[in-house]
Amino acid sequence: MNPAPPVTTARTGPYRTHPMFVTFEGLDGSGKSTQVELLAETLRGNGRDVVTTREPGGTDVGEGIRELVLHGPDMTPWTEAALYAAARAELVEEVIRPALERGADVLCDRYIDSSIAYQGIARGLGVGRVLELNLAAVRGLLPDRTFLIQLGHEAARARQKEQPDRIERERDDFQAAVDEAYRGLAAIFPRRITAVDGTQPPETIAKEIRGHLDLS
Ligand code: TYD
Repeated sequence: MNPAPPVTTARTGPYRTHPMFVTFEGLDGSGKSTQVELLAETLRGNGRDVVTTREPGGTDVGEGIRELVLHGPDMTPWTEAALYAAARAELVEEVIRPALERGADVLCDRYIDSSIAYQGIARGLGVGRVLELNLAAVRGLLPDRTFLIQLGHEAARARQKEQPDRIERERDDFQAAVDEAYRGLAAIFPRRITAVDGTQPPETIAKEIRGHLDLS
């Protein structure tokens, strides 16, 4: 049996539980990025190492793909799905997996559920096929928790920026289909996806999210 380690090697830093991978989903304008920042602040205040990132993007390759997919020419739905999956593959290998391995929490603004809702359901490519493509791209890495910030598509549209990107320019029925798709996903994965009411003030939403994560 090994002797007990000398007292001087005892941990003096903050107590750590295992790292969390949390993703945020919702329509453009739902307030996801504000919630990523508010949760990151809380976790950092609790002494945790936190990495925040966004999709598509978060790496050099990913930012290049972002430019192409959001501001480039029209493309087929499978091209679009493949580009999002490629950006995601890069983000997972370059940023997310290394961060989790060193013990950091990772908060990501959009992840696989975005592709399932937008490309799988709203573009009609099929949930199973888009999921399969993405699970291969990320080598099976799924989030521990996902918060869906729910805001009807009219309210989300009203909050959008003046210069919409290629996806935001889609008609209202596309955005309504995405909204519906997200609600369906939350019903299918009730343990992983928690829906929160996005019409509330940001601090109220943040408090609710902290409650779901047992954080003070
Ligand atoms: P986002 O970065 O949230 O937009 P912004 O920074 O402009 O608020 O997302 C960009 C757009 O890409 C958004 O309309 C949703 C779309 N999208 C997909 O269609 N599929 C995906 O897999 C992802 C990640 C995003």
